[in-house]
Amino acid sequence: MNRRHRIYEGKAKILYEGPEPGTYIQFFKDDATAFNAKKHEVIDGKGVLNNRISEYIFTQLARIGIPTHFIKRVNMREQLIKAVDMVPLEVVVRNIAAGSLSKRLGIEEGTPLPQSIIEFYYKKDKLDDPMVSEEHITAFGWATPAELEDIMQLSIRINDFLTGLFVGVGIELVDFKMEFGRLWEGDVMHIVLADEISPDSSRLWDINTKEKMDKDRFRRDMGGLIEAYQEVAKRLGIMNENEQPRPNGPVLVK
Ligand code: TMP
Repeated sequence: MNRRHRIYEGKAKILYEGPEPGTYIQFFKDDATAFNAKKHEVIDGKGVLNNRISEYIFTQLARIGIPTHFIKRVNMREQLIKAVDMVPLEVVVRNIAAGSLSKRLGIEEGTPLPQSIIEFYYKKDKLDDPMVSEEHITAFGWATPAELEDIMQLSIRINDFLTGLFVGVGIELVDFKMEFGRLWEGDVMHIVLADEISPDSSRLWDINTKEKMDKDRFRRDMGGLIEAYQEVAKRLGIMNENEQPRPNGPVLVK
């Protein structure tokens, strides 16, 4: 039985009411989905790894002054976060051609882009999250021009910082997706980074071998997803090699 009030359940996470007003608990599930949940699997231990990796990334971003919803990790699968009003957009930053950009524009995966590119997708499962322009966003009121300006400025800073952070551990940040929310402090509202940044929402390639260390391993049926996420965590220095990412995994029968 679960006594907590569930605010929202997404494909890979659940939001519960938090212990204090203005807070939520963000729970990381083991579910992996792709192609708007047409493909679905439960991958033991994925939630634990994403919780830790996203905690690490949000904490490092906060240290350089990026405002985020993150307060603290409370256990293996849960984070305490500030309740924000989500902007209904997926903001993707790309550094190297891959995925839908490669397909749409016929650019071979792995081709470095002449500059980092920001794309916006309208979060609407029924429509398969269509790509939209700044004009659509402001015309339909999903974000104001000033909010969109903040979102783009933050996205560029986050991309620059994370690109360096990952290069430092031998990983290329090919592309990644962010979501933002509105946080009110008194009468003042500001845009903050929300949701998660993890190998579920990014493309991470080993710099030397170009091996994929992200959810493409699941999307493309390559196997080895947990091992890849574990390697990302290990390189970032956030999970020691002997730590067990599968708290509900096989139990030794005595
Ligand atoms: P794409 O190449 O499929 O458009 O994906 C771009 C980036 O966004 C990639 O790092 C994966 C991430 N992403 C999500 O986090 N959620 C999604 O629903 C999609 C389609 C992509």
